[in-house]
Amino acid sequence: MEDKRKPTRNIALELVRVTEAGALAAGRHFGRGDKIKADGAAVDAMRLLMNEIDMDGKIVIGEGEKDQAPMLYNGEMVGNGEPPELDIAVDPVEGTTLVAKGMPNAIATVAASPRGTMFDPGPMFYMDKIAVSHEARDVIDIDAPVKDNLRKISKAKGMDIDELTVVILDRPRHKDLIQQVREAGARIRMIPAGDVAGALMAAWPGTGIDVLLGIGGTPEAVLAACGLRAMRGGFQGKLWPRDEDDRRRALDAGCILDQVLTMEDLVASDDTFFVATGISEGPLLDGVSYSEGFAHTHSLVARGLTATVREIIAHHHLGTLSKISEIVY
Ligand code: FBP
Repeated sequence: MEDKRKPTRNIALELVRVTEAGALAAGRHFGRGDKIKADGAAVDAMRLLMNEIDMDGKIVIGEGEKDQAPMLYNGEMVGNGEPPELDIAVDPVEGTTLVAKGMPNAIATVAASPRGTMFDPGPMFYMDKIAVSHEARDVIDIDAPVKDNLRKISKAKGMDIDELTVVILDRPRHKDLIQQVREAGARIRMIPAGDVAGALMAAWPGTGIDVLLGIGGTPEAVLAACGLRAMRGGFQGKLWPRDEDDRRRALDAGCILDQVLTMEDLVASDDTFFVATGISEGPLLDGVSYSEGFAHTHSLVARGLTATVREIIAHHHLGTLSKISEIVY
């Protein structure tokens, strides 16, 4: 007999208020040239909302260690302390320079999953990544040549290789990768920052992006893996040491550098929740916008257990919020 269950609480529907608040707070700093202020505003807003949620959350992917980041640091407990016990990954502004410079694709994002299920990046800042949508999830192999991956992805998606668009962070370290993608015949969308949004674009329909390739942050990989699990997309990663020092630190910490990390390694539970709200517009999400008396937000709200992904457009009445909220929206 099939295991039928009663519908249960979807924490993502509560976490979306957190990312909306972060996006609204950061949105006020759009293009103002100060990424620290934008990040700080989002952190304060998100922390306030997060602590109202019935959960015993521990931040495992956060703003760094306590001394550098007074809020939402790794190890900080969030929520009101009631069950369930959760690991929390949070990036109040994913793409701080994007917000500071008024550029596309910045998001506020949070993920949650049962305590102990999120990957600990340890000292490793960077990871090589590949992300795709559900059609191609079973054909990717990060150890295979780029052209083989692109050929198999295009076949799985029923597209020609020259119709595929690969999103890549615009970095000197990607010179060879870009060359290989071009030789394989695929198209490239280069982004200045924000590869959580990049990975989700590869998995979410209608973005015009088919694959994310390249090296970005390890914490960002954990966040992306939570979203991709819920979207039933595909993701693989490999820790990437920048230099000999990095390599030594990684080995001392017991990291296995040639291990292929799957989505399941990065978040070891289907019972995961992922939420993102656009700060600035992009192929994935609209950014915060304003009209007379209102601010508008656009969010993705995803749940791994059911694979339900909602898009939520919210209209926030600024006059009312300014009276009842301590956050400056
Ligand atoms: P921010 O820290 O400014 O939010 O930048 C985020 C980001 O672009 C991530 O999306 C990406 O994973 C990482 O930085 C890449 O790191 P680097 O900029 O050092 O290449």
